[in-house]
Amino acid sequence: MKKYGLNELREKYLSFYESKEHLRLPSFSLVPQNDASLLLINAGMAPLKPYFTGKEKPPKSRVTTCQKCIRTPDIERVGKTARHGTFFEMLGNFSFGDYFKHEATRWAWEFVTKELELPVDRIWISIYEDDDEAFDIWTKEVGVAPDHIVRFGKEDNFWEIGTGPCGPCSELYFDRGEKYGCGSPDCKVGCECDRFVEFWNLVFTQFDKDENGNYNKLAHPNIDTGMGLERLAVIMQDVDNIFEVDTIKNIMEAVCKISGKTYKQDEKTDVSLRVITDHIRSGVFLIYDGVQPSNEGRGDVLR
Ligand code: SER
Repeated sequence: MKKYGLNELREKYLSFYESKEHLRLPSFSLVPQNDASLLLINAGMAPLKPYFTGKEKPPKSRVTTCQKCIRTPDIERVGKTARHGTFFEMLGNFSFGDYFKHEATRWAWEFVTKELELPVDRIWISIYEDDDEAFDIWTKEVGVAPDHIVRFGKEDNFWEIGTGPCGPCSELYFDRGEKYGCGSPDCKVGCECDRFVEFWNLVFTQFDKDENGNYNKLAHPNIDTGMGLERLAVIMQDVDNIFEVDTIKNIMEAVCKISGKTYKQDEKTDVSLRVITDHIRSGVFLIYDGVQPSNEGRGDVLR
């Protein structure tokens, strides 16, 4: 596999979707604007919610971004798994009432198999349990082997975050090989270990969830996809975890230098080095976007 750098991967993705007539927008601030339901931007689609619901008109019906994100629910896993970080960049392509499942699925496959040349037999697909339409598109249109598709329930394959646009989703996984696995005979897609890494989520946004928990059908279904840039770099560079990819490892090396510790000598120290590296990334980007340490809200997250 070609060892693309993280910055190269970001550019490859954004220009691929520009070639599919998407407008490239810069990342939005981590601080949500006019959205009381979120403390911090946690997905590429979050700043685009008014376009999904139709409240505002997007500059174009196809948009692509690389969005800075903060996700805190996984904080206890940071440094211990290969794939979790409180800060990450999310690559996304979005359709506001324009294309839907067919194009989103086909282009995702084209990007990973033609642009990145990921080996097809190591890619796995998950779909929402009763989404037969997605199954047919993956198998009949795209040509994925049916035995490389798994069906998951609402917890895994239905995307919703607070109120707003949501829907069933389909995820792409990459088998990093036995060396990254837990060794259990049951290890397969969906296992908590780091062998089968979920790296891209295609959300078929067809509902708008209101404050009373009702799922209202959107007049024009949308597409929201999110690919973890750091996870993709881990796959392409075949490194152990997100802190070892080409750009992020520079931060960890500086942490080692300042602390006088050496990476890969002691697992407990390694976890700490990765946690500090992660928190530096989050802290820098939060402060850049105007957040100050305090005792409440965003400031408390930063503190
Ligand atoms: N909103 C979805 C996610 O964050 C896809 O972008 O996974």
